[in-house]
Amino acid sequence: MSDNSNHNSPYSSEPYTFPAWATMIMRMSAPIALMGAVGAIAIVWYFFSPKFTDVGYQPSQPVPYSHKLHAGELGIDCRYCHIGVEETAHAQVPPTQVCMNCHTHIKGASYDEELGVNPKLAPVMASWENDLPVAWKRVHKIPDYAFFDHSRHVNKGVGCVSCHGRVDQMEVVFQDQPLNMAWCLECHRMPEEHLRPLDKITAMDYEGGDGFDPVAFKESHNIKPPQDCSGCHR
Ligand code: HEC
Ligand code: HEC
Ligand code: HEC
Ligand code: HEC
Ligand code: HEC
Repeated sequence: MSDNSNHNSPYSSEPYTFPAWATMIMRMSAPIALMGAVGAIAIVWYFFSPKFTDVGYQPSQPVPYSHKLHAGELGIDCRYCHIGVEETAHAQVPPTQVCMNCHTHIKGASYDEELGVNPKLAPVMASWENDLPVAWKRVHKIPDYAFFDHSRHVNKGVGCVSCHGRVDQMEVVFQDQPLNMAWCLECHRMPEEHLRPLDKITAMDYEGGDGFDPVAFKESHNIKPPQDCSGCHR
């Protein structure tokens, strides 16, 4: 499904079997069929869940977990918790086990000696004891008819900050960028404006100036983000 080789399929596998006009009709039909289906979905999407596409969308979470504290002040790398981001389509939200690596010992400033609980961490403790996940609310979501894969981006030098903003300064995460089609395409046309060294993917304050040449990087890594419909609508 997420295989580079079927990017242009079924057309690219046997490019010379069909006359040019037949190939052209085949090439046209996919986007036209797609636009019908996608159009209907888009209307539903637009009217029923506009919150997901809104910049600034910031649902309140079941735990007052702070990225500003953990990723910012404590300096915990994004990948300690979002373990899927380099290998898979999804960055993933960490299971309670990851929090308990520290919070078995760290009781927190709001720990109440008399009650024997930290109200801020109570839902995490309950999740751990009952073996049920914390009900985190999803912030970012693109529609299912569009294909997105984290690993394909971060392994080509696109940092988290380009798409999620300064998460390390957010007390509560919000959507920083539009995540719509025009936004995706804007970067796909000029990716060199957003590329960085591969060891700076999670460095939120990286601003260049270390001799890194994004244009040379783009060429040496053969970076060509898709601009054709089937690149993102598979
Ligand atoms: C200690 C664990 C931890 C670290 C470190 C961490 N995160 Fe998170 N992250 C979470 C948890 C838990 C959530 C779900 C709750 C929330 O949205 O705040 C989350 C949510 C997110 C979301 C929103 C997900 C959604 O629902 O759309 C983004 C984006 C994100 N993190 C990016 C980052 C980035 C970028 C870094 C590094 C600068 C980072 N995180 C570091 C634990 C962590
Ligand atoms: C690498 C260690 C580490 C990990 C992993 C970690 N935390 Fe923390 N957390 C801390 C430290 C250190 C503090 C600050 C403790 C203090 O207030 O003195 C803290 C504070 C907190 C607080 C505020 C507590 C208070 O009393 O104000 C909450 C809530 C919290 N963490 C939730 C989480 C959640 C949820 C996760 C998992 C997604 C998590 N933490 C993962 C180290 C960690
Ligand atoms: C090219 C843009 C882009 C980059 C770079 C990027 N993200 Fe995302 N992120 C997205 C989009 C788009 C979504 C929504 C995905 C969906 O709906 O399937 C998302 C969703 C997420 C989520 C929600 C859970 C999930 O996996 O869907 C987390 C957590 C997250 N990103 C963390 C990160 C972290 C950490 C980094 C850097 C290591 C990062 N992202 C880099 C665009 C990006
Ligand atoms: C900040 C820049 C940037 C943004 C924003 C961005 N991309 Fe990309 N995208 C890239 C780069 C760089 C690549 C890697 C191209 C390569 O490997 O040749 C890429 C590759 C891809 C690929 C090809 C991966 C594969 O498996 O073939 C898809 C699909 C894709 N992006 C979808 C999206 C979607 C959907 C969005 C919007 C939600 C988006 N991108 C936003 C820069 C970006
Ligand atoms: C770089 C990735 C990318 C490419 C290339 C791309 N799209 Fe999209 N498209 C998206 C994303 C992401 C959405 C969802 C936008 C949203 O949630 O607002 C989308 C949404 C749509 C929609 C729904 C209406 C709308 O604008 O939100 C239609 C129709 C559509 N695309 C058709 C096409 C056609 C036709 C092509 C080729 C000319 C194409 N797309 C190329 C990523 C892409």
